[in-house]
Amino acid sequence: MKGLAVIFTVAIDGPAAAGKGTIGRAVAARFGFAHLDTGLLYRAVGAKGGDPVAAAVGLVPADLERGDLRSLEAGQAASRVAVIPQVRAALVEFQRRFARSEGGAVLDGRDIGTVICPEAEVKLYVTASAEVRAHRRWLEVGGDAGRVLAEVKERDARDMGRSDAPLRAAEDAVVIDTSEMSVDEAVARAISLVAERMEGAR
Ligand code: CDP
Repeated sequence: MKGLAVIFTVAIDGPAAAGKGTIGRAVAARFGFAHLDTGLLYRAVGAKGGDPVAAAVGLVPADLERGDLRSLEAGQAASRVAVIPQVRAALVEFQRRFARSEGGAVLDGRDIGTVICPEAEVKLYVTASAEVRAHRRWLEVGGDAGRVLAEVKERDARDMGRSDAPLRAAEDAVVIDTSEMSVDEAVARAISLVAERMEGAR
């Protein structure tokens, strides 16, 4: 018997280095859903240089393969181009189609539950204190710990303060504060929430 087509979206939003990507990948693997790290789109636009709107309109999959997209500089460049409404608009359709494609999808970013897919079946807002997040990012990128903390705070302020699609938890999002949670605990909590909703949706 052919399986029923599943349209099921898990939206994961939250501030920099909160663990959205790790949780997103684990949830996608557990349920066989596709996963999109939407931050990578903004990082790729920022890294291309030149006119950000033209970069967003002309974005191609190969742009997401660059090796330098995870750096602190690329994160800053991403949050600078992410305040531009025409940049965001150019990326909306692709994200919406991905979110509602058959087979289930997990998207992580800043505005997935609020703007890209307000109809998502599960919305998670993953957060942690700035210090904990900066420490996690420092473990990944190294360098000066104070600079990493300053970078995280600066990016959060820009992402929360912009007028187009600011970072905030959707009213119906479940907040997961991972400040005092291990990766495994955070992943387990997200998986059990998704499993619960899938049962309810049946
Ligand atoms: O991995 P990390 O949480 O540090 O950042 P990211 O998810 O890769 O996002 C990089 C930047 O892209 C963010 O600081 C936002 O400014 C922007 N972004 C956005 O505006 N909307 C999204 N859906 C995803 C990222």
